[in-house]
This record gives sequence, C-alpha cells and structure tokens, in this order.
Amino acid sequence: MDVQELLTTRRTFRAFLPKPVPAWVVHDILEAARTASCGANRQSLRYVVAQRPQDVARLCRWMKWAAFLPNDSGAPAPEQYPTLFVVILQDTGVPGHSDVDVGIAAAGMATAAWAHGVGSCIVGTLNAAEIARWLDLPPHLQVHTGLAFGYPAHKSTVVPMVDGNTRYTRDANGDYRVPKYALEDIVRYL
Ligand SMILES: Cc1cc2nc3c(=O)[nH]c(=O)nc-3n(C[C@H](O)[C@H](O)[C@H](O)COP(=O)(O)O)c2cc1C
Repeated sequence: MDVQELLTTRRTFRAFLPKPVPAWVVHDILEAARTASCGANRQSLRYVVAQRPQDVARLCRWMKWAAFLPNDSGAPAPEQYPTLFVVILQDTGVPGHSDVDVGIAAAGMATAAWAHGVGSCIVGTLNAAEIARWLDLPPHLQVHTGLAFGYPAHKSTVVPMVDGNTRYTRDANGDYRVPKYALEDIVRYL
C-alpha cells in the first residue's frame, strides 16, 4: 500500500477476528505513540495496554460504541471483541496538555496498526471514572481516549455524501459505508 491508500483505507472497525495482534505489531503501534508530535514536545500522554481477554472485555463494556447505529448494534459481540486495547491517559500536571496531542497520537497508532492489517476504533465516549478506578490512577492521570484494535471482521468503505447526511450506515453484510464530503465542499483555495 502506498501512503495515500493506507490513509484512505484506514477506517473505523468495531468487530474483530479472534486472532491476537503479534507483539512486534503492538510494539510498532506504541512506537507511533511514543514518537508522535506534541505541543512543545512536553509528552503529557501515557498509555495502558490490555491484551488479556478478560481485561479487553472489561474495557469494551465501558465504551459507548457507534452512537449512530441503531439500538447499540454497533457494539461488538463478545466473540468479536478487539484483541488489543490501548487507553490514552493524559497527565494533567504537564503544562499545555492538549487534546490535539491525543488526536495525533491516536491517528498515528491507528495508521501504524493498519499498515499491518490491524484495524481500530478510536473511542472518545467512555466511562473514564470506572476505568480510572479499575486502574487505580492518581488524580493527575486522566483517562482520555480508548483505542480498540484487532483484525477486522467486516469491511468499511468511504462513500460520497448525499444531502449533507454524515451518518454512517451498515449494509446487508454488516459492512460500513462512511459518507465523506467532497473536497470542493470543505476546501477553499486562495
Ligand atoms: C475523536 C473521536 C472519537 C470517537 N469516539 C467514538 C466512540 O465513542 N464510539 C465509537 O464507536 N466510535 C467513535 N469514534 C469513531 C467514529 O465514529 C468514526 O471515526 C466515524 O464514524 C468515521 O468513520 P471512519 O473513522 O471510518 O472515517 C470516534 C472517532 C474519533 C476520531
């Protein structure tokens, strides 16, 4: 895959095959986080990695999956749970800690994973209080975002936007169709 293809096929997946992510791929994913750009190079982010099925299952239950899909149908069934979870923690004691840093780290990890065929879902709506309690975190470390990873059990395709409707849908096979605006709708050239 060239870089452009990697970026356009790197989509969100929420159902996964029961196949572990190899340790060297996990390492590449975390290297992408470790070396990510961040404001003033202050590096306020920390990472918790879960791979044991019982830990991943616990985290899955604290995520809000696919708010746009009806009746929680976007939540993975237990047999399709991710096989790897990374929780991004933000050290709020570091001056200038920034949501942008989290976004850059998350995108880097998702892209590094996809380069090895590992799909992901960035999850911003989660039960941070329960996760922090479970991890016994000190108050300055705040649970920010989760990333679920695994080999995808479905496909996902970008489709043209119709009438400004941004809602993603699933087709009869359960594969995602993700509408995106055309460039001319969102870009202004000076
Ligand atoms: C900052 C951010 C927060 C997100 N939070 C959630 C979430 O809480 N639950 C979820 O299932 N998906 C979540 N997603 C995944 C989005 O729903 C997904 O990116 C969107 O539907 C577009 O699909 P795409 O990633 O394939 O372009 C989040 C994505 C981002 C970037």
